[in-house]
Amino acid sequence: MIGVPVLKIENLRTYFYSSSKQAFSRAVDGVNLALEKGETLGIVGESGSGKSVTALSVMGLVTAEPGVITGNIGLKTDGVQKNLLQDIEDYVKITNENGRTVEVSKDNPGWQRHIDRVLRGVRGKEISMIFQNPKLSMNPFSSVGKQIKEAIMLNTSINNAQEARERTLYWLEQVKIDSPRLRYDNNPYGLSGGMCQRAMIAMALSSEPSVLIADEPTTGLDATIQSKIVSLLEELKSSVGVTTLLISHDIDVIKTLSDRVSVMYGGRVLESGPSKEILSAAHNDKHPYTAALLASIPTARQIKAKSYLQAIKGDVLDTINLPSGCLFYARCHQVTEQIKMQCKHQEPELREISSNHNVRCWRFFNA
Ligand SMILES: Nc1ncnc2c1ncn2[C@@H]1O[C@H](COP(=O)(O)OP(=O)(O)OP(=O)(O)O)[C@@H](O)[C@H]1O
Ligand SMILES: [Mg+2]
Repeated sequence: MIGVPVLKIENLRTYFYSSSKQAFSRAVDGVNLALEKGETLGIVGESGSGKSVTALSVMGLVTAEPGVITGNIGLKTDGVQKNLLQDIEDYVKITNENGRTVEVSKDNPGWQRHIDRVLRGVRGKEISMIFQNPKLSMNPFSSVGKQIKEAIMLNTSINNAQEARERTLYWLEQVKIDSPRLRYDNNPYGLSGGMCQRAMIAMALSSEPSVLIADEPTTGLDATIQSKIVSLLEELKSSVGVTTLLISHDIDVIKTLSDRVSVMYGGRVLESGPSKEILSAAHNDKHPYTAALLASIPTARQIKAKSYLQAIKGDVLDTINLPSGCLFYARCHQVTEQIKMQCKHQEPELREISSNHNVRCWRFFNA
């Protein structure tokens, strides 16, 4: 990889404290991710693996009172480097007694003020986000055109209303909304789900962000609309080329759109590297968790026979009581006698097995 990443997440830990259990739930636990300019990095993983919390941590949207974030989130724009988590730990006090966390107190208004200060000019401008439900993410009482126009006037150098309107129409055309001039005046609820997602994508791109975060951009849409939105995102990838962090539990979506992928489980990255390699069933060297995820995708024949949805056996992790060894050990079918003890008691590191392809699994390394 060449150059300094536009977004570099280092050792991100986002924990939620449960006072009744006197323990932290480790939603994101030591995640490293780096986005090079122009690339799409996919995050894939089962429900609850920490994908959204990673994105929300970048956007400063982890507002829940007991949420604690540590690590570094480096954003490089116009040659300026900024750590979005700078000094954030000053607002949290953790009291430990006999190895247990007995209290977490957080200066919530101070924390929020600090985040708003650090993220001023970043949120919605340098980093914009597309969510799963566009109708909930846009103002229901204002037309989509007006909302995009306002975003343009706020976040770009355009401050002339007429020019901003023209630019809005340009973006509505880019996302292939039919009759953009008519749609301009529609409120979000006057649009179909697919159209509204297109408007949301137009709004996110209209601020010409350095980084776009798309969290499940196609989930919740029906299948044909889903594939149309994926095609649109694919076209925009080559025409606009915005650096993108794409989150989805749909492997096909990630495979189509991402250059690289990180596979998350229990708040950790278990594998990362080139998408084509990692998400290809034909490529054998992969984490057993990734292999299990791939095996859970139904084939056309299984769908026809209605024998699909072979979920990975075993329960998703309890992020309060994480095991001491490999997080996937209890569900793994590839443990051998030779590595069993290591898998059970010692967590493997994320290590390179081939060029830029990293795996956290003892099968590839004997201690
Ligand atoms: N505000 C919160 N307070 C406490 N726990 C939370 C909070 N937000 C998320 N979590 C927990 O953090 C973990 C990771 O959640 P996250 O939403 O990131 O999962 P995800 O990978 O995005 O899953 P999905 O595919 O269902 O969207 C889950 O165990 C979730 O219950
Ligand atoms: Mg999510």
